[in-house]
Amino acid sequence: MRKEYLCNVVSKCMLNADTAFIEIKCPEIASEAYPGQFVNISCSRFLKRPFGIASIDKANGTFKIGVKVVGKGTTEIAAFDAGQEINVLGPLGNGFDIEEGKKYILVAGGTGVFPVNFAHEVMAGRGIEHVVVEGFRCKDQIVLDDPSYILTTDAGDAGIHGNCCNGLDTLSEEQVKDSVVMCVGPLPMMKAVGNWATSRGLKAYVSMEQRMACGIGICLVCICKIKAEKAGQDFDHKRCCKDGPVFPFEEVIW
Ligand SMILES: Cc1cc2nc3c(=O)[nH]c(=O)nc-3n(C[C@H](O)[C@H](O)[C@H](O)COP(=O)(O)OP(=O)(O)OC[C@H]3O[C@@H](n4cnc5c(N)ncnc54)[C@H](O)[C@@H]3O)c2cc1C
Ligand code: FES
Repeated sequence: MRKEYLCNVVSKCMLNADTAFIEIKCPEIASEAYPGQFVNISCSRFLKRPFGIASIDKANGTFKIGVKVVGKGTTEIAAFDAGQEINVLGPLGNGFDIEEGKKYILVAGGTGVFPVNFAHEVMAGRGIEHVVVEGFRCKDQIVLDDPSYILTTDAGDAGIHGNCCNGLDTLSEEQVKDSVVMCVGPLPMMKAVGNWATSRGLKAYVSMEQRMACGIGICLVCICKIKAEKAGQDFDHKRCCKDGPVFPFEEVIW
């Protein structure tokens, strides 16, 4: 079912020079969405742009997205301001399954910190044991940091010098044991984190933020290769927007 809403921007602030944090009123999305899902946001360009849901306030019927400026669409969306009317399609996709009684390691690279923030919010609210490891290129790119997170920077100008795997290596045996890993970030980073997890016998899930067009499973722009379920076939094509974006790491053909 298409779930498109005419919404109002409630507030906007800049998290750093090129990243906006935008709060949008939509009680339907705020009540339905779960971590790992995304919304498609309209701008004056032909296609809507996808953003992971970063936070939800059910009581006020609002949700937040983080928007890093990389092109024309994000330049326009990051400039939205309170009171503006926008079209929003969502919540879209299959996100992360969060189960009571399990413990989690959440790993975020760059803008992956937004969906990971939502997962952290839900887990903290439900008392589910978890740790967050986040990686950025350098200090200027850090957003939504929290003192409880393990922070890494490639440049080494904040936190641990290195990438998310260097951050993961600082976890204790007890923190790692029997955890489920959930990861959102650039493809090479997710592959490295998935390998880190499987080499320790842990189940890992990754969010495949491929370039998208329709966002609802029609155009096939966002397909990725997933190991085939049927014998005699090497792989299936799956739509990241509709079948994902979250897939088990070991099922993705990298
Ligand atoms: C499921 C999903 C969730 C996302 N969540 C967030 C989020 O929470 N915050 C955020 O800032 N961005 C997020 N993105 C990326 C965001 O959608 C793109 O940056 C945006 O659509 C670019 O639009 P544009 O018109 O500004 O840039 P364009 O002019 O379309 O492209 C500018 C540059 O960005 C690159 N680019 C565009 N889309 C992607 C993509 N999906 N992955 C990698 N590179 C891309 C292009 O290759 C090009 O180099 C997400 C993408 C997906 C698919
Ligand atoms: S973006 Fe159209 S099928 Fe996924």
